[in-house]
Amino acid sequence: MTLKDHIRPVPDFPKPGILFYDISTLLAHAAAWKEAVRQLHAAVAPLKPDVLVGIESRGFLVAAPLALELGVGFVMVRKKGKLPGDTIRHSYALEYGEDTIEIQDGAVQPGQRVVVLDDLLATGGTMAAAVELIRKVGGTVAGSAYLIELSFLKGRERLAALGVPSHSLMVYDS
Ligand code: PRP
Ligand code: MG
Repeated sequence: MTLKDHIRPVPDFPKPGILFYDISTLLAHAAAWKEAVRQLHAAVAPLKPDVLVGIESRGFLVAAPLALELGVGFVMVRKKGKLPGDTIRHSYALEYGEDTIEIQDGAVQPGQRVVVLDDLLATGGTMAAAVELIRKVGGTVAGSAYLIELSFLKGRERLAALGVPSHSLMVYDS
């Protein structure tokens, strides 16, 4: 079985000229999804994480089952204003304007090894912001992992410049 057989390419979404790789079909296929989580487990276990972080929203879909498989905790990085209690924030530049993400105070302990999960690596801007936030609270980012990597957008290079290795199950070069 090839995982790519379970990804549905959708032309012109969310705007004309963009080819969107839809993971809904992978999630809906029990055996394929189980295989995807198994492959993520094989890629992430050697990084020996103490905790997994998932990035809102599709990163949650990937990080939560993998944390169960690895027997480690799962922590959410969310858009601002969604998490209760004390939080630590990080603002970062977008193409137009800026965005802010946050994590609950104490969710990652100083010195803990963290692997950050998202469904897809494109420019790497989202992951780079999460890495900076985790470092702000003292976590050690051991790596990042994804179902899909759009290699032509050079996110891997952007994260490598931050000292963060990337692990992806499916790579698309266009
Ligand atoms: C998508 C995707 C990644 C990010 C990748 O999330 O799920 O999080 O973009 O792009 P980048 O590498 O260029 O930063 P999106 O913002 O669409 O939100 P969602 O996960 O809530 O659907
Ligand atoms: Mg996302």
